[in-house]
Amino acid sequence: MDRRQRFLAALSRQPVDRPPVWLMRQAGRYLPGYRSVRAEHGFWDVCRTPELSTRVALEPLKRFALDAAIVFSDILVVPEALGAGVTFEKGEGPVFASVLRSRADLAKWNTTGLMERLAYVPAAVKHLAQTLAGSHGLLGFAGAPFTLFAYSVEGGGSDDFRHARSMLASDPSLAHDVMNLFADAIAELCLAELAAGADAVQLFDTWGGLLSKDEYRTHVVPSLNRAAAKIRASGKPVILFLKGGMHLLEVLKDVEVDGVSLDWRTSFTEARAALPNHLLQGQLDPVLLFAGEAPVRQRTRALLKELDALPGGNRGCIVNLGHGILPQTPESSVAALCDEVAAYRP
Ligand code: CP3
Repeated sequence: MDRRQRFLAALSRQPVDRPPVWLMRQAGRYLPGYRSVRAEHGFWDVCRTPELSTRVALEPLKRFALDAAIVFSDILVVPEALGAGVTFEKGEGPVFASVLRSRADLAKWNTTGLMERLAYVPAAVKHLAQTLAGSHGLLGFAGAPFTLFAYSVEGGGSDDFRHARSMLASDPSLAHDVMNLFADAIAELCLAELAAGADAVQLFDTWGGLLSKDEYRTHVVPSLNRAAAKIRASGKPVILFLKGGMHLLEVLKDVEVDGVSLDWRTSFTEARAALPNHLLQGQLDPVLLFAGEAPVRQRTRALLKELDALPGGNRGCIVNLGHGILPQTPESSVAALCDEVAAYRP
């Protein structure tokens, strides 16, 4: 099987010679090629220039035995295009020039011509798809409504997202309006990415795991389903990444996505029991990559054996990390992980 065939087979839960592998944030700061592009260009310039975005997205494919590429972009392109003024300060994560705390703030968002302002994202997908010419699977992505809501209300990263989470209780109708606005925007964006050549899209709900089952069901599932239903009308799959979502597996039964990307605390075995028909992806700990090559190889092999032993076997399973790869990650560990998967035959 070639890489793309394997990736497409896993997406549609068909048999594979071995599970495909790609890694969240595979194109980031741990790679010297990325750092040298960033030494000359601002982050948003890289995202907005298809040639640069493609160059960065190809870096990990040249080095490691990965089966899929992911377009180089960011989940915060949507609030940025709405007028939030997003910058990345060194070591601090994203900073929003305007935060959303009231209906008056929401009214200031510029929704007219939003997709025109985001046209650089499908343009980057198209350029990457043409360059790959079918050599690898290709993922598009967007932020999930709750995580975009969380960053926009908080105005950046946070340990507890207290402004965003308290708004769910103090003004649920405003919170829902914001999440529905994001749902419509990401649905349009993902459809454009799929039309430009992506094989699937991943929605990143990095902060959804902060919520209880009831909160997730009440405040998040409706907007998530609104987005997912529109995207799935394309016939292509939607994968939901949820960090810290072990307690939400039961709720995910009611979410209209094709696949779930698990973090390192949720095993495939537990997830398969809760979600017998979903595509599952994950879930090696990004921190494991700091433990040296031997443990990486051992844990990767153990994961592959676990997948073979699932009811239904390794169909519909994709190997990945449980969260994005960290900046100082040794390249030798990434190579070891990918090589173990590539060499594996059940
Ligand atoms: O392979 C890839 O790297 C694909 C592109 C990609 C980026 N961000 C590039 C990026 C993807 C898929 C993302 C997703 C993303 N962005 C998420 C979801 C996944 C996760 O990590 O939870 C989130 C929460 C963001 C928001 C974001 N963007 C943060 C918190 C930061 C700053 C801190 C950090 O982790 O890097 C960014 C900036 C960003 N996005 C960088 C990269 C390579 C670093 C920018 C730089 O300093 O060069």
